[in-house]
Amino acid sequence: MVCEGKNKSYLKSQNLKIIGRSNLRGKVKISGAKNSALVLLAASLLTNEKITLDNVPLLTDVEKMSNILKNLGVKLQIKNHQLIIDSTNISIKELPYELVNGFRASFFCIGALLARFGQASIPLPGGCNIGKRPINEHINGLKALGAEIIIEKEIVKAKLVENKNRLLGANIRLNCPSVGATETLIMAASLAEGRTVIENAAREPEIQDLCQMLNKMGAKIYDSGKEKIIIDGVQKLHGCSHKVIPDRIEAGTFLIAAAATSSSITVSPVIPNHLEAVLNKLEESGSKITKKGNSISIKSNNIKAVDITTAPFPGFPTDLQAPFMALMSIAKGRSKVTETIFENRMNHVELLNQMGSSITVKNNIAQINGVKELSGMTLVGSDLRSSAALIIAALISKKTSHIYGLEHLDRGYENFELKLSKLGVEIIRETKRKIISEKSYENSKINNKKLSEIKVA
Ligand code: UD1
Repeated sequence: MVCEGKNKSYLKSQNLKIIGRSNLRGKVKISGAKNSALVLLAASLLTNEKITLDNVPLLTDVEKMSNILKNLGVKLQIKNHQLIIDSTNISIKELPYELVNGFRASFFCIGALLARFGQASIPLPGGCNIGKRPINEHINGLKALGAEIIIEKEIVKAKLVENKNRLLGANIRLNCPSVGATETLIMAASLAEGRTVIENAAREPEIQDLCQMLNKMGAKIYDSGKEKIIIDGVQKLHGCSHKVIPDRIEAGTFLIAAAATSSSITVSPVIPNHLEAVLNKLEESGSKITKKGNSISIKSNNIKAVDITTAPFPGFPTDLQAPFMALMSIAKGRSKVTETIFENRMNHVELLNQMGSSITVKNNIAQINGVKELSGMTLVGSDLRSSAALIIAALISKKTSHIYGLEHLDRGYENFELKLSKLGVEIIRETKRKIISEKSYENSKINNKKLSEIKVA
C-alpha cells in the first residue's frame, strides 16, 4: 500500500544501496506514462468492448487500478506490457475502501461509471497528503452534467437525476485546471447527451492521450490540449487498441540525474515537446540538450543555479520539482524553487538537508545555496518524487546511501534501479531481514517530526 493507516509502520525491509559519485553513461528506455495508463484504465470502463493497451508500465499504481477494475468484474490479461481489458460483464457496486484508500487516481473512475451505468459510489481517496488535494472540481462538474451527488460517511455517491438515463452536456468552467477533474469530466461528457464545453481545462499530455483513445473509441472530443475542450456526447463507445505515451516525468528524472552527475545520456522513446519547460531549465543551468526524433540526449558539466516555478502544463511540472531541487543542491550559486500546485510538497527538503544540502523553505518557496558535496546516508523517501530526489542526491554523494521507502518509488518508476545500473551506477536492491522500525528512524534521522506526518503521495 502507498499510504497505510496512521498507526501502521509503512517502512519496508527493502532499500536501494547506492554507491555515490556515480557517472551515468548510455541510453535509457523510457516506460509508458503512469498517469496516462491510470486514466486510460478508468476510461476502459466506458465500453463493454475490449480495449488493448500497449506500452503499459508495470507499476504498483497500475496494479492497484487493475485491482479496482477486477473488483467490478473486469477481466484483465497482461502479457509483457500489453493489457487487454474486457469490461463486458461489470457489476456496478461501491468500490471497497481498502482498494481506494490513499490512491487518489481511483476517484477518476467516477465519471466513467456514472456515464455508463448512471451511478457510482466511491469512497473518498483521502490518505496521502501533498496538500489538500480536494475533489470539489470533479463533483461540481459532474453536478453541472446533471448528476446528483451526496457524500455520506466519506463515500461519494453519484447518480443520474430521476427520469434521466444519460448525463446532459453543459458548459463547465473549472476554477483551477485540475488534471484529474478535467479527465473525469471528459469521460463523463463523452457519453452525455449533447455538447459539453470545459473551460480552464488542464492541458497535460496525459489528457491529450486520454482524448485520443476516447476518439478511437468513437467519442467526439475536439481541442484536447487547449484550455477549452469541446465534447459532443455519443450514445455508445466501442473497443480499440491504444499505445500509452512515454512517461515524461520518468524521462525528466533521468535527465536531471544525468545533469546532477555531470553525465551524458540519451533517453528514448520520448515526445520532446512534452518536456520543453524542463529542457529549457536544464539548458539554462548549463547542460547541452540534443533532440533527435523521439530521443533526447544530455551532456552536462558545471551546473549553475537557476530558479524554477512549478505550473500546469506547459509549465514546469510539479512532479519534477523534488528531483530538480536535488540538482540545484549542488549547483553553483543560489536558486529559488517555488511550488505553486500543491501546498505541501517540500518534504524532501529536510531529507536533502540531512545529506548536506543547504535549503530553507518559507511559504512553499525554497531558497537553495548550492554546496560542493553531499554525503550518502540512510534515509526514507516520503513520497514518490521525493524518493527519486533522494536517489539523485545519493548518486552525487560521497559515501554509500541506503534509500528506503521503495513502496513509493515502485508506484511510479518501472525498474528504476535496473535502468540506473545499465547506465553504470552501482546500485542494488537489498532486502534486510529486520524491518527498520519507524521509531528507530524518528530517533536517528527525522529530527522532531514523526514519519507518519511527513509521508505524502
Ligand atoms: C495529477 C497527477 C499528479 C500531478 C498532478 C498535477 C495523476 C494520477 N496524477 O494529479 O502526478 O502531480 O496531476 O500535475 O494524473 N484541486 C482542487 N479541486 C479539485 C481537484 C484539484 O482544488 O477538485 C487542486 C489540488 O488541490 C491541487 C491542484 O488542483 O492543488 C492540482 O491538482 P490536480 O491537477 O487535480 O492533480 P491530480 O489530478 O490529483
